Amino acid sequence: NSIEKASFSWSAPSNIALVKYWGKKENGDQIPANPSISFTLKNCKTITSVAITSKDEKENFSFDLLFEGKPKEDFKPKIQKFLERIYPYCPYLKEYHFVIDTQNTFPHSSGIASSASGMAAIAMNIMSLEKAIQPEISEEYFYAKSSFLARLGSGSACRSIKGNVVAWGENVTIKNSSDLFGVEFDAIHSNFHNFQDTILLVDKGEKQVSSTVGHNLMHNHPFAEQRFEQAHDNIAKIVALLESGNVTDFMSLVESEALTLHAMMMTSMPYFILMKPNTLEIINKIWKFRNETQTPVCFTLDAGANVHVLYPSSVKEKVLQFIQNELVGYCQNGQYICDEIGNGSQLL
Ligand code: PMV
Repeated sequence: NSIEKASFSWSAPSNIALVKYWGKKENGDQIPANPSISFTLKNCKTITSVAITSKDEKENFSFDLLFEGKPKEDFKPKIQKFLERIYPYCPYLKEYHFVIDTQNTFPHSSGIASSASGMAAIAMNIMSLEKAIQPEISEEYFYAKSSFLARLGSGSACRSIKGNVVAWGENVTIKNSSDLFGVEFDAIHSNFHNFQDTILLVDKGEKQVSSTVGHNLMHNHPFAEQRFEQAHDNIAKIVALLESGNVTDFMSLVESEALTLHAMMMTSMPYFILMKPNTLEIINKIWKFRNETQTPVCFTLDAGANVHVLYPSSVKEKVLQFIQNELVGYCQNGQYICDEIGNGSQLL
């Protein structure tokens, strides 16, 4: 099938890891050194439309990039690199000119990484083109390959294709798990349905150390082997907790994973700290509130200073009250984003 002209539009959400991916295998192909598992989010997402026209010249990639409807030259090298990376798996890419128009639902440079949702949204559009060229591909192949392509853009992006919980990285606990793409884990207990994630924006500045550099510092890291082994153990533990609905033990494990991620950063060479004083203030306030009120609420962290506050929807009002009264003062310009567990990417 040859396609003259087509256009698609997909939204893809961000995700927050519960067991963290930190470190890649050395072959340069975005293979994780350990398995990870995440909640897919609902409100923080990237919406990307692609208009495709066939072209005569077939030697080079050709695309225009718009961000919120306006040309955005400085994002182009990232997309060019992504296209080069996935080209061996998508040989049709040079036959078309692409106009890519992308926007995020969350504020630009809010410190929320848009690479996961952004790469997932582009990957979905490319797979829509592939499906138009090759209508016989199965739905399973369509989603698995979307995740595979997103992974080549940004590792954790492969967990942004599906919901509500996605695992990436081969492990003995989750059947069909793979280093190459994310797989949906759907056996979660109702205690985790509509789980909330309120993201406190502590620091919106550029990261001091990129995650690419951070992943690389796990090579020759003194604790790397123990950490990778621990991640496998923690996948087994968290899967059991997600299935049984044990929110208390789930929260201990999630907080331990967040602090372990940052401990790896603090013990690499060179070492670095991405948390800010307000990150620690918030963590201490959450612990105090949890001790005093027995409310199930915990934190997790990404590779940055922002704090994700996780809790069941049954205590939403109480926790939001606590956040407004006691935590908003630690956020930059009082900013926070209310999100929750979501279903993955969507064709618009
Ligand atoms: O997808 P990357 O290469 O930006 O790495 C993200 C790593 C963490 O966000 C820190 C953890 C994770 O599993 O998402």
